[in-house]
Amino acid sequence: MNALEEINLKGFVDEYIDPTLDLFEEIEKLKKEKNAVILAHYYQDPDIQDIADYIGDSLGLSQQAAKTDANIIVFAGVHFMAETAKILSPDKKVLLPDVKAGCSLSDSCPPHLFRKFKEKYPDHLVITYVNCTAELKALSDIVCTSSNAVQIVESLPKDQKIIFGPDRNLGAYVMKKTGRDMVLWNGACMVHEIFSQEKITKLKERHPNAKFIAHPECEDAILKMADYIGSTTGLLNYTIKDSATEFIVATETGIIHQMEKENPGKTFIPAPPNNSCACNDCPHMKRNTLEKLYLCLKNELPEVDVPREIIEKARLPIERMLDISAKLGL
Ligand code: 13P
Ligand code: SF4
Repeated sequence: MNALEEINLKGFVDEYIDPTLDLFEEIEKLKKEKNAVILAHYYQDPDIQDIADYIGDSLGLSQQAAKTDANIIVFAGVHFMAETAKILSPDKKVLLPDVKAGCSLSDSCPPHLFRKFKEKYPDHLVITYVNCTAELKALSDIVCTSSNAVQIVESLPKDQKIIFGPDRNLGAYVMKKTGRDMVLWNGACMVHEIFSQEKITKLKERHPNAKFIAHPECEDAILKMADYIGSTTGLLNYTIKDSATEFIVATETGIIHQMEKENPGKTFIPAPPNNSCACNDCPHMKRNTLEKLYLCLKNELPEVDVPREIIEKARLPIERMLDISAKLGL
């Protein structure tokens, strides 16, 4: 099997790695040799977060991808994030340790169906959450992330009609915060929809001093219980600034690694899912491993590419988001 066939089948080049190698050292060496930068999302494994040049939420990662002067971007995240980096830096090589690292939320909005949906509302502006394919971004007017969705909607005239997709939970949260009515696409993230209201209530009773913090991709019933709602960076910053010493965290578990690093002595409890067989790990994010990251940097594969015509259409809505965010100091 050649490398491309293997990538099609497995998502990565599965090569033997000498077990005596120190992968942290090897990755550092390759990074220097190739002028590569590693951008990692907070939901990645702790090892990947620790070797990354930059760790962040979707907005922070897009801002870094737009400004890096590295020749190679290794995106330790999921496919839509690597695509966003490629759209913003089309002349750079963008690598994803496992190209099958997808996203249930992005999958819940196939572009051909969204196009038909959009045709029903010709006088509406289209705002899409960054968790979607490059093709969907190309059908949008403005992209947003969980850290700027409210501000982006608020920056538009009050009577502006809006379609918001693909996340119905983030959309409903933005509607509540802004008082605007929006037409929502019915998509959701498989990780943020599993939290149990009943089990969180019981957990809060057992930890009366704990603050409950949640990502806006969670359902409204869960958000209603939260002391703070925010993007992954927002949640992390809240745990640093707030005086509480215990936090119940309703988002993917990867962020807890940074929360513990930033807050020695504070305790972080993952919010319980409704099904005891379920867990708060994103199966897509967790496809990436340190071994796959090493192999991808070594072989410069798998590479994520986006067709030129899609890049041309998808770039503007992302740049609008970055411009609005820069003006607002986000
Ligand atoms: P943020 O890091 O932007 O909060 O996004 C969370 C998420 O679900 C990414 O897939
Ligand atoms: Fe997609 Fe949810 Fe995983 Fe984020 S946590 S990559 S939104 S499935």
